[in-house]
Amino acid sequence: MSRTLIRGGLVVTASDELHADVLIEDGRIAALAAHGTTAAESWTADRTVDATDRYVLPGGVDAHTHMEMPFGGTTSSDTFETGTRAAAWGGTTTIVDFAIQPKGGSLREGLDAWHEKAEGRCSVDYGFHMIMSDVNASSLRQMDALIEAGVSSFKLFTAYPGVFYSDDGQILRAMQRAAGNGGLIMMHAENGLAIDVLVEQALARGERDPRHHGEVRHALLEAEATHRVVRLAQVAGAPVYVVHVSAREAVAELARARDEGLPVFGETCPQYLFLSTDNLAEPGFEGAKYVCSTPLRPREHQAALWRGLRTDDLQVVSTDHCPFCFKGQKDMGVGDFSKIPNGMPGVEHRMDLLHQAVVDGHLTRRRWIDIACAAPARMFGLYPRKGTLAPGADADVVIYDPHAEQVISAETHHMNVDYSAYEGKRITGRVETVLSRGVPVIESGAYVGRAGHGVYLPRGLCQYA
Ligand code: URP
Ligand code: ZN
Ligand code: ZN
Repeated sequence: MSRTLIRGGLVVTASDELHADVLIEDGRIAALAAHGTTAAESWTADRTVDATDRYVLPGGVDAHTHMEMPFGGTTSSDTFETGTRAAAWGGTTTIVDFAIQPKGGSLREGLDAWHEKAEGRCSVDYGFHMIMSDVNASSLRQMDALIEAGVSSFKLFTAYPGVFYSDDGQILRAMQRAAGNGGLIMMHAENGLAIDVLVEQALARGERDPRHHGEVRHALLEAEATHRVVRLAQVAGAPVYVVHVSAREAVAELARARDEGLPVFGETCPQYLFLSTDNLAEPGFEGAKYVCSTPLRPREHQAALWRGLRTDDLQVVSTDHCPFCFKGQKDMGVGDFSKIPNGMPGVEHRMDLLHQAVVDGHLTRRRWIDIACAAPARMFGLYPRKGTLAPGADADVVIYDPHAEQVISAETHHMNVDYSAYEGKRITGRVETVLSRGVPVIESGAYVGRAGHGVYLPRGLCQYA
């Protein structure tokens, strides 16, 4: 039996902060005991980690990533190998990525293809959601088997006509199926048909720069689609989780539905909390670095997102990590913003950016751990194995130095992408050590992990619905 002891730190979970030592046995948390107690003093271990003046945190759970995803005429630049290594550097020890049903194909085919990409390559543990790009009688039936295979959440889109778009009837049918089988429907909520009209009109007027991406994807078209999917879910009697919420009007729709007692959930992402349309308007073609959908919003929207995170109208912060290199990928859209591949890098910086939010007074420490670890684990059927530090949980542990100073840069990050969306941003706090199931992955500023250490996580049902 292997035993590791983490001594002297402040353990922070979504529910507690305690000065406690943590005992790990064979990859799981065996016990926690207050410093200096007889129990803690009596523990012996093969290895002791000194966490004095450090936080001891559950590993981050990033429930929205796109590794090596074919999209927008290219493929996102992080593989499962590079992307999960970068995740580990940033204190994220679980990702949930999106497998894609091929058009005309089955959900199982999509899942098999994503297993093939990920197996033997990940540094941290991983699960899958399923993007349903072809909702029909057969794929609706297949949802039940996917849940059996541990894929209990299904993303549908009111955006991207001709690519991932589903009409209201298809969405309603998928929600009805989920109401019966316990699945969770995740919605990309933007009115894609209306956006395509505005794109065409903008291009006809000669509006071709990246900033127009934000203008045509109007906040009201996010709010309208959010309202629609919430009401479709209500009619179906199903819960719904709205991904990458960026507009304050969309937050208001979620808040109203939750006040009515509906099982409606929302996720936002660091880019919406820290970046804005000012970035999309950076000179030349620089704004392309920030093209993602839903788009960045004017800075004024950020207050509603922070408030939503504090009031629990938004429950989760994920990254929607979908990196495309500035040179060779984003530049496919020079002279036509609609051809810029949609997506931004971020899997490495979520825990740090949210710690900065604690330092800046937007969040408490426990809320940081809730939205970044515990809530995504609960939302996607991984709790308490992931998302907390409690006896029996996987020993996914981050030793975090809350006083270290760092500057984010593409020069030093580990994601396979040639720019950083947060270039030059100063952060207080830094990941020092990361354990995945008790095994060191990051130690004293070095990667000591292994591609293939990460295992597939079959997930249970949403634990909130
Ligand atoms: O721009 C984004 N968000 N790209 C990834 C695909 C999606 O819609 O999540
Ligand atoms: Zn989306
Ligand atoms: Zn996404």
